[in-house]
Amino acid sequence: MPELINGEENNKIIFELLDNLREGVNVVNAEGMLTYSNNLSGEYVNCLSKDMIGHHISEFYPQAALINVLKTGKQVHFDKVRHNNGKIYKVHAYPIFSKFSLIGGYAIFTDITEVTRLNDRLEELELRNSIGKAEDIFTSIVGWNGSIKDTIAKAKKSIGSLGGPRHSIITGESGTGKTLLARSIYEYAKEIGVIKSEATFVEVNCAQYTNADIAAMEVFGCNEGSYTGAKDKKGLFEMADGGILFLDEAHTLDNYQNLLLKVLESGYVRRIGDIKDRKINVIVIAASTKNLQNVFMPELYQRLAQYELFLHPLRDRTCMEKQTLLNTFVKKYEVEAKERYGIDLKIEFDEQVRSLLINFNYPRNIRQFRDVINSSIDSAVPLINPNLVRTTIVTNVGIENVPTELKDAHDYPKQDNRVLDEISVKEEVRDRFEVDNLIIELARNDYGPRKIANILNKKGIELKYYQVAYKLNKMKEIKENQIKET
Ligand SMILES: Nc1ncnc2c1ncn2[C@@H]1O[C@H](COP(=O)(O)OP(=O)(O)O)[C@@H](O)[C@H]1O
Ligand SMILES: [Mg+2]
Repeated sequence: MPELINGEENNKIIFELLDNLREGVNVVNAEGMLTYSNNLSGEYVNCLSKDMIGHHISEFYPQAALINVLKTGKQVHFDKVRHNNGKIYKVHAYPIFSKFSLIGGYAIFTDITEVTRLNDRLEELELRNSIGKAEDIFTSIVGWNGSIKDTIAKAKKSIGSLGGPRHSIITGESGTGKTLLARSIYEYAKEIGVIKSEATFVEVNCAQYTNADIAAMEVFGCNEGSYTGAKDKKGLFEMADGGILFLDEAHTLDNYQNLLLKVLESGYVRRIGDIKDRKINVIVIAASTKNLQNVFMPELYQRLAQYELFLHPLRDRTCMEKQTLLNTFVKKYEVEAKERYGIDLKIEFDEQVRSLLINFNYPRNIRQFRDVINSSIDSAVPLINPNLVRTTIVTNVGIENVPTELKDAHDYPKQDNRVLDEISVKEEVRDRFEVDNLIIELARNDYGPRKIANILNKKGIELKYYQVAYKLNKMKEIKENQIKET
C-alpha cells in the first residue's frame, strides 16, 4: 500500500481501519497464540481485544478455523461455524508463511447468526409447506430435480397422459423410495383428477404371506369352497376399485402371473374358485427389488413395464443429494419436536460427523440413512420432560452420538485428538490466573514446559507444552518490562 504519511502513522491507520471493520479479525502465531484481535473479535467474545493477546485462540474461539490452518498449513473456508457463545460465523482463515515456514495465520469472520436463523426458518416453512401440499408431492422427494428427475417425469406420464393412466413397475433396492414414489403417484393422480379424491390406495406386500396361494387369495379374492373352510372374500383388486393397487414384492406372485395378466388385459377380476368375472377399474403399480423381466413372462412384463420406474441405490446418488436428504431428515425431526411439544429444536452437526454420516455405505439405502440420522439425534437430545415443553434447545450431534458401526467402519479420530476440548477450555478460562500461578510455581521448581504440561494434564488442565512455553516466555517478558520500568 502506498504510504499516506510516515510508516508509524500508516500503521495507526491500518489498525484503526481493522478496528472499524464489520468483520472480526484474529491473527495468531505458529503456536496458536493470538498476536492481534480487532475490536469486533473482542466484542464477539465479551473481551477487550488487547486482553486476548498472548492467549491461545481456543480460549476464546474453541472451534477456531485457525487451529485447522496451523495443523495443515492450508487456507480454510467455513460457511458455518457454531461457537460456544451460540453465535454462528462464516470464516475465512489463511496461513502466513515466511521463507517457506509457517509462522502463523489470520482469520476474517462474520457473525451470520441472525441470517442463519432467518434462513433456517424459511427452510422450515418451505419444508412444512411441501410436506403438507399435494401439488408439491414430487418436489418433496429428494432428487426430483437430480438423480430421479427422469423417473419422476416418467411416473407423471404413466398417470397423466391423454391416453389414460397406465400400470407401472417400480424397481430398486430395499429402502430406495419405492413405496414413497408409489404413494406420490397416487397423490398426483388425485391431484390431477385421474382418480377421485376419495379413491383408495391399497398396498400389499406380497412377500408377507407364507405361500403364494394365500397371497393370491388376498389379491384376487376367493369363493366359498375354493378350499376347505373358505368363505367368500373380496380381494384387494376389488377393494382398490377406482384407485391404485400397489403390489409390493410382486415377484412372489409368479405362480399367478396368468391371473394377473388377465385382470390387466380385460379389466375384470375373477376370485379364486369363482366362475363370475367382476368389472374393476384399477391402476396397478408393481414394485420389486428384483428385475421383474427375469421373473414375469414376457406378456405380463410388457404390459407393466411400459413405464418401468427405476430408483438408484443411495450409493449412486450425489453428495449434494445426500446432504439434502440429511437436511430433510433433520428438519423433519425438528418439525416433529415443534409440533409434538412446542420445542424449538435446533440440531447442529460437527463437520466430521456430517461427513461420516454422508460417506458411510448404507446397504439398506435411504431407510437406513434416515434411521441412523434419527438415532444419532435421539442420542444427542435430552429426554422429554415437562420443563422442556415450549423451550428452545440447541443440540450438537457429536461423534459420540453416532452408532458404533459407522465409527468402526471409518476408524475415526477420537475427540482427544483435538487441541482443547470445550469443557477444558471453559474450565481453563475460569481458572486462567490459577493456572498461571501454578505454572510459575512449577517453573520455580525448575520444571520445563513439557513436564509442566504433563502435570497440568494430570490435573485435567489441557495445555500443550508449547502453550506452557509461550506463557512462560510472556510472563518473563512482562516481568523484565516491569523491572525496566521501576
Ligand atoms: N428421495 C427421497 N427423498 C426423501 N425421502 C426418501 C426418499 N426416498 C426414500 N425416502 C424415505 O426413505 C424411507 C424408505 O423409503 P421407502 O419408500 O419405504 O423404500 P422402499 O419402499 O424402496 O423400501 C422412507 O422414510 C422414505 O420416506
Ligand atoms: Mg417399500
